[in-house]
Amino acid sequence: MGKAMRVKIMESPVAQGNETKPLIPSGVTMLALAMEAHMTDKKERPVYGSAETPPVSRPQDEIPQERQIPSKVTAPSLIARKGTGQAILCLTAYDWPTARLVDEAGFDLILVGDSMANVVLGHASTLKISLDQIISATRAVKRAVDRPLVVADMPFGTYHVSVEETIINALRLVREGGAQAVKLEGGVARAHLVQALVEADIPVMGHVGLLPQAVNVRGGFRVQGRTLDSARRLLEDALALQEAGAFAIVLEGVPSAVAARITERLSVPTIGIGAGGGCDGQILVFHDVVGLSMGPAPKFVKRYANVAEVMRDALKGLVSDIRDGSFPTDEHTYDAKSQLPKDWDSEIE
Ligand code: KIV
Repeated sequence: MGKAMRVKIMESPVAQGNETKPLIPSGVTMLALAMEAHMTDKKERPVYGSAETPPVSRPQDEIPQERQIPSKVTAPSLIARKGTGQAILCLTAYDWPTARLVDEAGFDLILVGDSMANVVLGHASTLKISLDQIISATRAVKRAVDRPLVVADMPFGTYHVSVEETIINALRLVREGGAQAVKLEGGVARAHLVQALVEADIPVMGHVGLLPQAVNVRGGFRVQGRTLDSARRLLEDALALQEAGAFAIVLEGVPSAVAARITERLSVPTIGIGAGGGCDGQILVFHDVVGLSMGPAPKFVKRYANVAEVMRDALKGLVSDIRDGSFPTDEHTYDAKSQLPKDWDSEIE
């Protein structure tokens, strides 16, 4: 039974004038009701984009068997995955079409990352993105997906002033953006914020190691955990976040042996980026994976396509077709409904 169907049946009787309309009109079959419910749920066909709008998630039998998890991914279901050997698949997305592709591919978690500042907005650091921009992107992502857990990044400055402001900002990500969890950077020093958010019923994903938002205090994007002291600090950070209630912890830019040991020491999943194969899951930035970020990719990225090249070719093709008149043709144009008189424009000066 689809979402709209459930909503329909749960609706209370509707008062119309003096009459109360029954919940299920007599003589209407369940099939008709289901069809009506389906149509109610159907999004209006957009002017642009594809006319084909198949269901967001593929039918279960199209998803590889090992990834057939019947229900939506949640923060607790990810914790339950720890130790099962089933890798947690995470990727960023910042808009409707890419989020939809990520869902279709079977990813478990979508991060609306502040990396959007770099790969979408063209900033050199992640510091400039605003809460409103992440909220807007999260809404688009949420409209596109239904199975993966949608996590929104807390932008720089939104959890740096007070516990109260942190909660207010995270609540906006959840209530306005539709995020099902938030992520923030930092370990021991941020554990009290994680605890406050979890107490406010907002699941939190931690993030330790290379912290892009700490670029100015650290003097660059630095791999962490390379020395004994640094590795111990990392473990302490991760344990503090776990203790505070984080449901998962991103390990970014960490030597693989250190990340693997931290993963063994924790009871919540670790999600690695530049942290080797010993983590419970992996995350990368969408644009890096498909080859849509300009310039060379960082060492930890594996590119699976060169989408920028595909787009370049497509755009070259359009430019050339418009120039030489091979676009548009009759195939792409509309006819007038009835034959217009030859002088249809003569009355207009
Ligand atoms: O913003 C981001 O994309 C991240 C990463 C963990 C990929 O924080």
